[in-house]
Amino acid sequence: MENRYAIVLAAGQGTRMKSKIYKVLHPVMGRPMVQHVMDQLQPLNLTRVMTIVGYGAEHVKEQLDDLSEFILQEEQLGTAHAVEQAAPFIENEQGVTLVVCGDTPLLTAETLNALFDHHVQSEAKATVLTTTITDPSGYGRVIRDSDGNVAKIVEHKDATEDQLLVNEINTGTYCFDNELLFDSLKKVSNDNAQGEYYLPDVIEILKQADEKIAAHKTKDPDETIGVNDRVALSKAEKIMKNRINMKHMKNGVSIVDPDYTYIEPQVVIDPDVVIEPGCVIKGETSIRTGTVIGAHSEVNNCLIGENTIIKQSVATDSEIGNHVNIGPFAHIRPQTAIGDEVKIGNFVEVKKAQIDDKSKVSHLSYIGDAEIGKDVNVGCGTITVNYDGKNKYLTKIEDNAFIGCNANLIAPVTIGEGALVAAGSTINKDVPADALSIARSKQVNKEAYVKRLNKFK
Ligand code: UD1
Ligand code: CA
Repeated sequence: MENRYAIVLAAGQGTRMKSKIYKVLHPVMGRPMVQHVMDQLQPLNLTRVMTIVGYGAEHVKEQLDDLSEFILQEEQLGTAHAVEQAAPFIENEQGVTLVVCGDTPLLTAETLNALFDHHVQSEAKATVLTTTITDPSGYGRVIRDSDGNVAKIVEHKDATEDQLLVNEINTGTYCFDNELLFDSLKKVSNDNAQGEYYLPDVIEILKQADEKIAAHKTKDPDETIGVNDRVALSKAEKIMKNRINMKHMKNGVSIVDPDYTYIEPQVVIDPDVVIEPGCVIKGETSIRTGTVIGAHSEVNNCLIGENTIIKQSVATDSEIGNHVNIGPFAHIRPQTAIGDEVKIGNFVEVKKAQIDDKSKVSHLSYIGDAEIGKDVNVGCGTITVNYDGKNKYLTKIEDNAFIGCNANLIAPVTIGEGALVAAGSTINKDVPADALSIARSKQVNKEAYVKRLNKFK
């Protein structure tokens, strides 16, 4: 196969976003737009991938890391000028060059492949990816000649009234014969409404030199949306959200209300998982079969086992086993590891804790910096007192221990295997295995005391 290059345009500031964040770094479904573009380039077997950076260059480089080479465009004089920055690196190479914008996050590898195929099969020197949309405003219009061939692309701001009526648009994605591309770029002028060097002008330049121009029209206009402002950003989010939800449903996941379910692209979900309405599932989360994520839960970067039920809870950066029952209203904070058949009930907060198989923390507790063994029962209202204002300390509760309600376990402290802590105790010394520990003041009943007090009223 011939050399295949890709140039990703990502140097613009994105003024229309009105943001401190550079445009191509705005996330769509939690992932920066330019990263989505890069994800889709991965399967294409490209000889070299070059990203043109300018505004926020360091951040873009950090984001894409070793997935691309980077070329700095110091001044942003337009898309043609951006591509020209790659000239010193590849202008004399033979091959095909794909140019794609960093702000078209919904493009898929399949469409890019189809564009390459179309370009090669039609023996064109330039092939533009186009689509037809009902509201083309803002986009460059594809102007065809009387034979129906692409003659040129006219930017919205430069278009005549007739041209504005055209609803076939330039998606900003093209394949070019590499050498002819860099030749033509030298001929692009900035004599236009925006005073910029427009990459689409290369099409007309090649056409006038009698080179063959092709257009690959994609049927799905959703895929080609260019995100220039927050309105388009929200449209892109919605489209990608639906795309992700469709994929999971086709794989056997039940999503009760896909319009109100937000699942980020990296999430892995097995068949026969049920996702109830209002869930937000993010990061590198993975959910095994038979699990139910109940309504309005938020799960971020968690591994969740089989047949587990999570109800209206928040879980972050944690591992949760099989047949676990969580919530409603539990908060599983980072670095928590929950074993199998564990129960974490309502209003329980767990942080950086291991809770081993079959243990229960059923109500109103704080478990932080703790190691809890198997078959432990932590009574309602128990607190691991882990922080002295400077340092955090570990609470250990060994297998089969029973912690009565409202106990304070002042760390560092160990409750031995099978030990019993009486309700209301404040424990600041280790409790040996099988011991009963009571640390509360003795109850005193004063007979008829209330009546005596009432006499003085
Ligand atoms: C561009 C096309 C338009 C097309 C639309 C599709 C031009 C002149 N117009 O318009 O025909 O319909 O995309 O979405 O190309 N960039 C640089 N350096 C620059 C200027 C831009 O790297 O000097 C980058 C931007 O960061 C962006 C991309 O190029 O990722 C496209 O630029 P943008 O300003 O968004 O172009 P549009 O006005 O959307
Ligand atoms: Ca754009």
